[in-house]
Amino acid sequence: MAIRNIVKKGDDVLRKKSKEVKEINDKIRDLFEDMKETMYGCGNGIGLAAPQVGILKRMIVIDVGEGLMEIINPVILEQEGEQLEVEGCLSIPGVYGEVKRPERIVVEYTNLDGERVKVEGRDLLARCLSHEIDHLDGILFTDKVVRYVELEEEKE
Ligand code: NI
Repeated sequence: MAIRNIVKKGDDVLRKKSKEVKEINDKIRDLFEDMKETMYGCGNGIGLAAPQVGILKRMIVIDVGEGLMEIINPVILEQEGEQLEVEGCLSIPGVYGEVKRPERIVVEYTNLDGERVKVEGRDLLARCLSHEIDHLDGILFTDKVVRYVELEEEKE
């Protein structure tokens, strides 16, 4: 397992549409392990989509502090309400801005056991799901930003 390089904005791969995962095999499991390590390795990451490590597959890892979610082939079933909060992206370091996202979102996805399951997210989880699913369609938060903000970078 390994920490992978995070693709930065400007690389074409971030603008492409990712492909559905057809079969859950060792390659997929290994990629999730790497994505997990890469996200946690960043310290401040709460989500990472496969295109951000250069792989155009519909796979996401999320951990907003409620445990790790490994998400395959997500589909948004419902979204409602609106929230305007500051977000950033591991592929766009040092850039932060306010983005409108749904306040509540219901996503259906395949888990690593191959089952289709549903998750309901509100607030931060709703925002994170929306942000990461956008990555699978080549959309970056800077495409939707309402207002950029200056944030003090956390220095170790
Ligand atoms: Ni991102």
